[in-house]
Amino acid sequence: MSKIASNLQIDSARLWDTIHETAKFGATAKGGVRRLTLGPEDKQVRDWFRNACEAAGLDVHVDALGSMFGLRKGRDMTKPPVGLGSHLDTQPTGGKFDGVLGTLAALEVVRTLNDAGIETEIPICIVNWTNEEGSRFAPAMMASAAYVGDFTTENILSRRDAEGVTVAEALDSIGYRGAVAVGTQKFASFVELHIEQGPILEAEGKTIGVVDSGQGVLWYDGKITGFESHAGSTPMRLRRDALATLSEIVLAMERIATTHGPNAVGTVGEAVIANPSRNVIPGEIAFTMDCRSADAAIMDALDADLRAAIAEIAARRKVDVTLDLVWRKPPTHFDAKFVDTVENVAGALGYSHRRITSGAGHDSCNLNTIMPAAMVFVPCKDGVSHNELEDATQADCTAGANVLMHTVLALAGVAS
Ligand code: GLV
Ligand code: MN
Ligand code: MN
Repeated sequence: MSKIASNLQIDSARLWDTIHETAKFGATAKGGVRRLTLGPEDKQVRDWFRNACEAAGLDVHVDALGSMFGLRKGRDMTKPPVGLGSHLDTQPTGGKFDGVLGTLAALEVVRTLNDAGIETEIPICIVNWTNEEGSRFAPAMMASAAYVGDFTTENILSRRDAEGVTVAEALDSIGYRGAVAVGTQKFASFVELHIEQGPILEAEGKTIGVVDSGQGVLWYDGKITGFESHAGSTPMRLRRDALATLSEIVLAMERIATTHGPNAVGTVGEAVIANPSRNVIPGEIAFTMDCRSADAAIMDALDADLRAAIAEIAARRKVDVTLDLVWRKPPTHFDAKFVDTVENVAGALGYSHRRITSGAGHDSCNLNTIMPAAMVFVPCKDGVSHNELEDATQADCTAGANVLMHTVLALAGVAS
């Protein structure tokens, strides 16, 4: 814990208000948020965030991939800041908390420190990372991946969405292609608050998840080429049906992930039939696959087993199947000392807690490859996320933001 007594608390009502105020940008009828990265609603929330950062006295800049940085001066400006934040983009049927909580809690930490007149020893810098979700452009967490050097900026700028729009064009269309080169803003370390997006904390009645690891991710683009023919006159034995093939692939993936469980998962989240028609046997399908495990050896086994199963299905059904690995993110092991720090802070603030593995990917998983990073989880209702019904309590969000603030104070120090 920092020298600041644990009775310094964030302003719970103010945090809650900002979460609900920004949820208006892309609000859906079912109470969720649709704010695809670099779209018009993302511009609205970004403008809101920039204004809020400037009003809080932060020095704001935007990098060449649109990530937003708000720097709060510390006593010693020769040192890089402690970073904190998350993302403001959402899934197509997303909720109010995924990413938003961590970004707005970071803003709330700054506001609270301002109100209390607290200067940190080293600066702190709050961040809104571009395209954490990976729904419009793949891969997920692309801006932080470029930040740590996994991709060049040019590579990411040339990625296209389903309509063929590049990241560069999307950034320009909302005026968020910044002048600052990716990676210019250095950090001493990074801390991210997030909802758990799974059922563990709620089931165990724990307030804080001390995240010690994160699952690795395999993302594939698949294509099945069968043969289009008449739905009425083509005998079953002569068909080369791309959709029937995909059905077998999905079930094989489900079986393989279950076999490698309990800590392996697999999902086919997108499938598009080319030229669909009720009375044409599907001849071509494009699909995506997302497989995850916290164990690198299990990730390799998933990959090998999937490929073997797909080869067998394709040969038997006389169709072509291609499966391209478009992204492989190894499992994350968060910095041990930082994990201890989060755990100590949660304990000192009197919150129940447990260590936990993140099922979701996060920008902090990328950042952890070049700097010590840490994550704080809070429960979400029924473990539901990537859904408009995603929900979390004000008390839990407040607890998480307090742990975030005191962790940042422990890392940044308080100027004497
Ligand atoms: C990001 O939301 C992910 O897919 O884990
Ligand atoms: Mn998220
Ligand atoms: Mn998400």
